[in-house]
Amino acid sequence: MSARSDQSPTRVLRSEYQPPDWRIDQVELHFDIQSHDCVEVHSRLSLQSQSDNEAPLVLAGRHMQLLGVQLDGKELSADAYTLSDSELRIEQLPPSAMLEIRTRINPATNTALEGLYAAEGLLSTQCEAHGFSRITYFLDRPDVLARYRVTIDADTQTFPVLLSNGNRIAEQDLDDGRHRVIWEDPFPKPCYLFALVAGDLACVRDSYTTTSGRDIAIEFYVEHGAETRCGHAIEALKQAMRWDESTYGLEYDLDTYMVVAVSSFNMGAMENKGLNIFNDRYVLVSSETATDTDFELVTAIIGHEYFHNWTGNRVTCRDWFQLSLKEGLTVFREQQFMQDTVGTSTQRIEQVRMLRERQFPEDAGPLAHPVRPDSYIEINNFYTATVYEKGAELVRMLHQMLGQEAFARGLRRYLQANDGTAATIEDFVTALQEQTDIDLRPFFTWYEQAGTPVIHLKDSYDADRRQYQLAVTQGTAPTPGQSEKKPLFIPLNTALYSPQGQQLAAQTLLLDQQEQVFSFEDIAEKPIPAPLREFSAPVNLNFAYDADDLVTLVLHESDGFTRWEAMQRLYMAHLLDELDVDLLIQACSQLLGKEEDAGLLASLLSLPSENQLLEKASVPIQPHALLARRDQLLEQVGQQLESQWADLLQSQANAANVAYSPQVAAQRSLRAVALRYLLATGEQRWQKQAVNLYKQAQNMTECLAAMSALRDCEGEARAQVMADFRQRWDQQPLVLDKWFSLQGTTQYGDAVARVRDCMQDPAFSMKNPNRVRSLIGAFLMQNPRGLHALDGSGYVLWTEVLFELDAVNPQVSARLAQALANWQRFADDNKKQMQQSLEKVLAKPGISNDLYEIVTKIATVTKA
Ligand code: TRP
Ligand code: ZN
Repeated sequence: MSARSDQSPTRVLRSEYQPPDWRIDQVELHFDIQSHDCVEVHSRLSLQSQSDNEAPLVLAGRHMQLLGVQLDGKELSADAYTLSDSELRIEQLPPSAMLEIRTRINPATNTALEGLYAAEGLLSTQCEAHGFSRITYFLDRPDVLARYRVTIDADTQTFPVLLSNGNRIAEQDLDDGRHRVIWEDPFPKPCYLFALVAGDLACVRDSYTTTSGRDIAIEFYVEHGAETRCGHAIEALKQAMRWDESTYGLEYDLDTYMVVAVSSFNMGAMENKGLNIFNDRYVLVSSETATDTDFELVTAIIGHEYFHNWTGNRVTCRDWFQLSLKEGLTVFREQQFMQDTVGTSTQRIEQVRMLRERQFPEDAGPLAHPVRPDSYIEINNFYTATVYEKGAELVRMLHQMLGQEAFARGLRRYLQANDGTAATIEDFVTALQEQTDIDLRPFFTWYEQAGTPVIHLKDSYDADRRQYQLAVTQGTAPTPGQSEKKPLFIPLNTALYSPQGQQLAAQTLLLDQQEQVFSFEDIAEKPIPAPLREFSAPVNLNFAYDADDLVTLVLHESDGFTRWEAMQRLYMAHLLDELDVDLLIQACSQLLGKEEDAGLLASLLSLPSENQLLEKASVPIQPHALLARRDQLLEQVGQQLESQWADLLQSQANAANVAYSPQVAAQRSLRAVALRYLLATGEQRWQKQAVNLYKQAQNMTECLAAMSALRDCEGEARAQVMADFRQRWDQQPLVLDKWFSLQGTTQYGDAVARVRDCMQDPAFSMKNPNRVRSLIGAFLMQNPRGLHALDGSGYVLWTEVLFELDAVNPQVSARLAQALANWQRFADDNKKQMQQSLEKVLAKPGISNDLYEIVTKIATVTKA
């Protein structure tokens, strides 16, 4: 983050990458923590010139006070360097130098949550991507790797726990009730992996023995009182450690693995070497306070940060354009881990749902960018679904082409060849290329080209020759800055089914041209194609299915994703007015009578989300008509299958009050779907039933299922339950966030007024990102009916919130700004008002670079 000064912000270009002129081999940091609002940092850098032309040393630094600079032991006078609000520049340096810099920072006023900041009495850091240069002047770029030794001094009472990366090599008491801890990290690292934590925290200890027999101490630091809620996270960490050893032969490399849970955090978690810092919502779970989904998110994110130790930390990124090198790869590893440990049938469906909900719209709108972007103003804006989730899909395709064994060999080769260095995406693909005869060069276009490819399929059947043909064309619509698109290398995992649902053929088709025809021989009758099994490529696929054929796939296909996809097509066809409801209800009824996998059944019976529906609708979008139609479908399916839903709720009742397990979670998700449909019938007795379930609930999953189902019901029941919950959990911020989310997504009455009320709640604060996301994020991102209210009140709220939030936390404001990214697709009533709101933000003086970059991109009118 940086506040925008009067000059227009600088754009960083991938093509302008230059290796650093200086190397920093060793960093010694001394933190003198005087209070939450005053920390002095003394840094000693051993510098080596890397260029022959006596390049100046230009160190980045912001929001701090420079106290002094010494070169090889001698104080530099102020005319020996130039200081601006973003840089410290020294012209004449010997090729080898010891530079000492003293700075003073104020963590208490750091509400951007980058660098060293204070929140709830704790001091902690967030350095990715450029937070380190808010701590001291430095070469804040990932290709400068150094060894760190860190000394922390602080008051023993206020800050009994003092942590940094690596090994604790000394501890001592100082005078005046202060103490000192010294840390040393033996592994060279870029500064974005630096971390420091100081405060009064409880420590929960455990241990793990690696396959090679090394003992690793596990230490979880959490707020006092939360000790009982980290058991699940600790187990997940041990599972992740075991999994990476058995799957990729990768062991942890330090003697201690530390995790700190903090309540004010901009994202999910951060993989700092040996000292992960987590948003506490992804560490602290218990059945009373967290849902089954929360439990699974904890497992996934604990795994994700652990896997970064190799893919990210031991081998890091040369520059931030390579971000997907660590993030796409690590998300893929996280997904593999989840599949192998949680292992439910809906895992892949959930991934695809997420990708479509978040990444496809990004790729189709004004913020579209390649998995490896070409330029940025603010790198924080590129921690996107494209870099993470689409990046993971690219790794998945590579994995599919190579197979697990060759992929694992390639990954190990990549890590070995680049260990301790900063690498590029090419380095990764090169290591994989060594393991296969498939030419991976054409695949690379995926990293360079933005936009979701669209595949059109046409089929024909020749009964005489018993031959079936699929004619496939691919194309990608233009995206900002990329008008010409190349064909991509696309694996289509395809099967053919008979009209009775028997599999006739299965084969992976490899597309590499704009148009191709594939033939299947010896096919006895005209088959039904299933061309994207397991979602083998991140594409949109068009094929003119008969509704009956889709039902056949729903009932007989063995791949869960394809079944779900067929069902989604049916719902969507009805919602977009192309299919009568009867066939749909009949399909639901058949599923209810037949499908035994509870989790899969829950997915199959869930309607496309509101956002999905709006995205698939034809332009110009009339949101309210579409959303009303969705409500109507919910009601019809609820009413016509009422007794089946009621039976289902009953038959899964054994899962209501038992501890989390993947199987139990699947059953409870099915109960939640049933309850939702029952309430959609409008029958009073189901409202009563939901209230009873709320009262009887012994865990948060059941409790929240009842509340969510009641959320949109008019009447007293809803109000009572909401008020009860608000009061009951007043002292549990993570649970209160769930209440705020329900308020933010409220459909009943005036949602904007509801949100405004909640912003006045004493528990609401713009300074806590979890709270902001739970109320305002939920409203902007998951409540299209409220956001697009025809009087424009949702957009006014958007503007006001951004103004207030941007001054506090630009990273979060830039995220929420994206709620209006697709404004141009809406009908005039909405579109004009959104445009006005965008212009208002752009006209506001002093907005952050973060917000400026996003809003200028969104506001730029591309095509009508
Ligand atoms: N690298 C982190 C991850 O993927 C995410 C991250 C990037 C982050 N920038 C951040 C987290 C800023 C918090 C704040 O796991
Ligand atoms: Zn990550």
